[in-house]
Amino acid sequence: MTSVLISPSILSADFAKLGEEIQAIDAAGADMIHVDVMDGHFVPNLTFGPPVIKALRPHTKKPFDVHLMIAPVDQFIADFADAGCDLLTVHPEAGPHLHRTVQSIRSHGMKPGVALNPATPVEVLDYVMDDIDLILVMSVNPGFGGQSFIDSQLRKIEALRKKIDQTGREIILEVDGGLKPENSQAAISAGVTAIVAGSAVFKGGPSAYAANIAALRPKG
Ligand code: DX5
Ligand code: ZN
Repeated sequence: MTSVLISPSILSADFAKLGEEIQAIDAAGADMIHVDVMDGHFVPNLTFGPPVIKALRPHTKKPFDVHLMIAPVDQFIADFADAGCDLLTVHPEAGPHLHRTVQSIRSHGMKPGVALNPATPVEVLDYVMDDIDLILVMSVNPGFGGQSFIDSQLRKIEALRKKIDQTGREIILEVDGGLKPENSQAAISAGVTAIVAGSAVFKGGPSAYAANIAALRPKG
């Protein structure tokens, strides 16, 4: 394994200054920009969609790691591609046909990812493992930043690490929700290669971002 990617979630950024916030986390060492898209239906919260992502695209060259918490997904895939998304991650529960959605994301020139809620078993991935580039393990229930990490997800990460290694493919294993310097090492030891963090990166304002990002990286 190479190093672990840090993907700050702009859900915890200052929404009045999103362009500047993205430039600040880019300069502070972020590897990707995590964008949480919520529809107030699949999850009990609303955020932003393709027009906002498109407006943010010129502010960084780092990949946009876009996490869709919307249902349905398929009719918006072209808009997310046009907005400049690099990785597009969907929840299987968003339905109706996960394999079709994954194929459509790839055919629009993006890398497909699949997100697993805390209660969603890993077996849902069995027949799409060869088709995806990222698996996102939700270590909180989706919808809000600032929640506490659910420890049972470490076992799921370990199981997915084995599953990915068996494929011999480069699939990013990402964890999202409640990540802090105190628990990021446990997630890394369990096998993740990417860490999403919102509140832990954006706390303290721009002058703290570099240290906040560094504190999540592998230790020792
Ligand atoms: C929750 C989102 C997360 C969230 C993480 O639905 O998917 O990306 O922003 O926020 P923290 O790191 O504060 O738990
Ligand atoms: Zn997310």
